[in-house]
Amino acid sequence: KSGKRIGIFGFGCVGQGLHDVLQENPHLEVAKICVKDREKLRTLPTDAFTYDPQELLQDTSIDLFAELISDPKEALLIVRQALEAGKTIVSANKKMISENLPELVALQEEFCGTLLYEAAVCGSIPILRTLEAYYGTEPLQEVSGILNGSSNYILTKLDAEGLSYEQALAEAQALGFAEADPTLDVGGYDALHKISLIAAHAFGALVKPEQVLRAGIQHISKKDINLAQVLGGRFRLVASAKINAHNRLELQVLPTLVFPDSELYYVEAEFNGVALHAKYAGSQFLKGRGAGSHPTGSAVWADVSAALAGYKYSYAKLPKEEEPVQLKIEGEDE
Ligand code: HSE
Repeated sequence: KSGKRIGIFGFGCVGQGLHDVLQENPHLEVAKICVKDREKLRTLPTDAFTYDPQELLQDTSIDLFAELISDPKEALLIVRQALEAGKTIVSANKKMISENLPELVALQEEFCGTLLYEAAVCGSIPILRTLEAYYGTEPLQEVSGILNGSSNYILTKLDAEGLSYEQALAEAQALGFAEADPTLDVGGYDALHKISLIAAHAFGALVKPEQVLRAGIQHISKKDINLAQVLGGRFRLVASAKINAHNRLELQVLPTLVFPDSELYYVEAEFNGVALHAKYAGSQFLKGRGAGSHPTGSAVWADVSAALAGYKYSYAKLPKEEEPVQLKIEGEDE
């Protein structure tokens, strides 16, 4: 193999997915993979791994990094250090990125590094790049959809196969869809992190979690599922960001009853579906696998390729510090 060298942090579901996908790319060589647990049985020889993040971060032969660990605090330290050194790094950590976006944008500006995170939002669906395609043209009015694969998998299994909530969650975990802490999925927090990132890219809004009305799916009972069936609908966890009649941005994450006239009704199992509504273009709908090792690994690979080709997010809609905020968020003080 020749060409560029990549350093990978994390060898869980997404890290392994990326590693598999990279086997088909002759232009990228995996330098080392940094992991934490020395005792864990691995599918690669021990010399593929390091246990010291600094060994990777300070290796000048590495062209770019992929940060794919679940701990948001450690992930932030890695991404921060890479950006401060003006390096390129891709990440799939939506919690870390959504909670630290202003700092991460500022670091990229100050040190000329690059951070891409398409894999953090809706797995294999290229939603962030699609949103950037709207820059300079008409404003978006609404972006909404199913952004959490695990919740959608659970709701589908409760509905179609009559599984219990516990059985369905255990399956979502075994298939590698759920977060290390699955309350992030079923409590609606993961969808909240994703809709926050969408709000930044689609509307230039920096959202605080407490500004978003949020409920998860953990209290949906068999009785609720039966009632939905009788009514001809299905429950889906829907996250939305839209400009309301008062020209304010309204965000929410809520279990919602959807019917066959909605595209969301047909989004099943770990799939995600996102609808974009623009004034003149009308509506578009993107559907794809939102979780899982290879679909997410493929999204990381897309980021790696884009970063190597020089792609950066423009953050064109985010207000600069000296500019007044154009768009207010519903629930925010005047
Ligand atoms: N736990 C996430 C989900 C993984 O279920 O959608 C993909 O972000």
